[in-house]
Amino acid sequence: LIDDRIARITSAIRVIPDFPKPGILFQDITTLLLDPVAFKDTIDLFVERYKDKNISVVAGVEARGFIFGPPIALAIGAKFVPMRKPNKLPGAVISEEYSLEYGTDKIEMHVGAVQEGERALVIDDLIATGGTLCAAISLLERVGVKVVECACVIELPELKGRERLGGKPLYVLVS
Ligand code: PRP
Repeated sequence: LIDDRIARITSAIRVIPDFPKPGILFQDITTLLLDPVAFKDTIDLFVERYKDKNISVVAGVEARGFIFGPPIALAIGAKFVPMRKPNKLPGAVISEEYSLEYGTDKIEMHVGAVQEGERALVIDDLIATGGTLCAAISLLERVGVKVVECACVIELPELKGRERLGGKPLYVLVS
């Protein structure tokens, strides 16, 4: 049953108050990774949803999209493309800047990692303000890739990140 699996996943996520700053309730997925049943359920739920959607690219956002993205990509027969923090990728990159509460950040993708017309799933552990996923969508769309959906383990709905995705579908396991 889907609900039993979601319940186990929810209870495997640890919430740590005041990290990295006072007032922030940090959603820690490392404890989910310590529970092989809950971790497998997480991957399985995504695989069941995406296996027949003709997806050729799973794009994962640094850092925790690198944990959930690759097993999904392998299971659905898609390639995995890392979207990295600036100046980490060695080849030619395209980059997309996005705004934070204070200042800006950037993610980068290798030129040539994806081809025009491909169908992508974007994966991360968590959506907060939606800035990161929005930048990932823009990067892929700039090179002619269709973003079929974004998927996260956790959504913080009070931050309204979903609204920043411009109508792009978002699937989350835990809200
Ligand atoms: C967290 C999280 C997402 C992003 C979501 O990453 O893993 O990638 O923030 O926030 P947003 O929806 O407001 O953009 P973080 O910035 O902590 O970077 P890290 O994964 O490299 O630690």
